[in-house]
Amino acid sequence: MNYTTDDCLSISLVPVTKTSLDDFLAGQSELTINWVRNSEFEAKSHEYCLIPDGVGNPSLVLFGIHEDNDSNNDAAAIWSISNLAKKLPVGVYQLDCNWDETQQLQAMIGWGLGAYSFDFFKKDFLDQKPKPQLKVLEAQLDTINAYVDAFTLVRDLVNTPANHMMPEDLSDLTKELAQQHNAQFSEVVGDALLEENYPAIHAVGRASDHPPRLIKLEWGNENDPLISLVGKGVCFDTGGLDLKPSKFMRNMKKDMGGSAHVLGLAHLIMSHNLPVRIQVLVAAADNAISGDAFRPGDIIDTRAHITVEIDNTDAEGRLVLCDALTLACESNPDLILDFATLTGAARVAVGTEIPALFSNSTKLSSEIQNSSEGTGELVWPLPLHKGYRHELDSPVADLVNSTPTGYAGAITAALYLNEFVDADKLWAHFDVMAWNTRERPGRPKGGEAMGLLVAFKFLQQRYS
Ligand code: BES
Ligand code: ZN
Ligand code: ZN
Repeated sequence: MNYTTDDCLSISLVPVTKTSLDDFLAGQSELTINWVRNSEFEAKSHEYCLIPDGVGNPSLVLFGIHEDNDSNNDAAAIWSISNLAKKLPVGVYQLDCNWDETQQLQAMIGWGLGAYSFDFFKKDFLDQKPKPQLKVLEAQLDTINAYVDAFTLVRDLVNTPANHMMPEDLSDLTKELAQQHNAQFSEVVGDALLEENYPAIHAVGRASDHPPRLIKLEWGNENDPLISLVGKGVCFDTGGLDLKPSKFMRNMKKDMGGSAHVLGLAHLIMSHNLPVRIQVLVAAADNAISGDAFRPGDIIDTRAHITVEIDNTDAEGRLVLCDALTLACESNPDLILDFATLTGAARVAVGTEIPALFSNSTKLSSEIQNSSEGTGELVWPLPLHKGYRHELDSPVADLVNSTPTGYAGAITAALYLNEFVDADKLWAHFDVMAWNTRERPGRPKGGEAMGLLVAFKFLQQRYS
């Protein structure tokens, strides 16, 4: 447990900025002043100083913060103490500052995010080692757990290797989540995808021994507005017959990251009892190679009966998503959000740490972008520029799945998806990395939720 609600003695965690450090020290004992000076603690962001009492036990922790900790960056409240959960000695700690309630809650959530590690496959996984704990109020615990559990779900799903996270595993986990929240679960599996008209999901996943699936979770009250959450669930992306080189295939267990995000978002929505109805659609497939793999040059059908010429079997994400997006539109939702590890091009455009955001409404994309204020996350809009639509023309089918020039690859991928979204439906698409390539406070290397806080804050603002 990373938190306690017990009324026990605790060690204060006190924020200081470079300028407030001197004021703080002015009222302190000689021991404290000397200790802090000799530790060369300068109150830089994420720097900390553990101060002992007269007999050498921890008595106080100073942690450095940026002068303005309410910004959209690493200095945001959520990341302020998130590196401490793994660094401080075992004990009970308590935030001791005059921050407003939201910031304190964010810092408390960050503590839990920073305590995360993926050690399920290590032999000492079950050893219960004592951990430093943060003291929180009983009334805060549900909210804290909702966020920490949502991040943990996304990270665990992405970090779990593909041999343990195939479409059937995504299905089991979705079913568990549904049970936890009294939601409805259903799915269409394998050849039934052809009978029930999901030909594109079937085409991508049919070569694998692990059959593809359209997994559905539904929750909420009939009279509340419906939100469709659509996730790319490619459990491993070899590239298909257009095989990826080793270097690019290495991390492709994360290619179901989009579906991990929509499940994490669904968990947040259901835990907070947001006054909405949700329909989570996970398009799950293993992009594998066998005698029956789909091929470059194949023309496949889609649920929308838009035919697609396969230019590249590695552009499979948009194929599984397009059938799910068509299904989403059939229920006439108030809003459709999709998350996908869709393109390498999005990573070239905005890097690995910022989701690229696309929408058929510039108003919606700026509202979503504005929701990032104070969350400690960024999302950044790219244009759904119709001028590039011609790149998707095929001489023999209605569309190609990959463009001849490759320019603006994130935009043309979003334009492809847009072909499957009714023009009168509000839709936003998050092209995410779902993976930390470097360690930052609270954000260890490996699977990561990106844009989740922004999307949830946006939904809270829109629907409450
Ligand atoms: N899963 C990849 C995209 C990806 C790669 C996301 C690396 C994040 C990091 C996707 O299925 C893919 O391979 N896309 C191709 C599309 C291309 C063939 C049009 C890409 O981006 O290169
Ligand atoms: Zn691919
Ligand atoms: Zn992929």
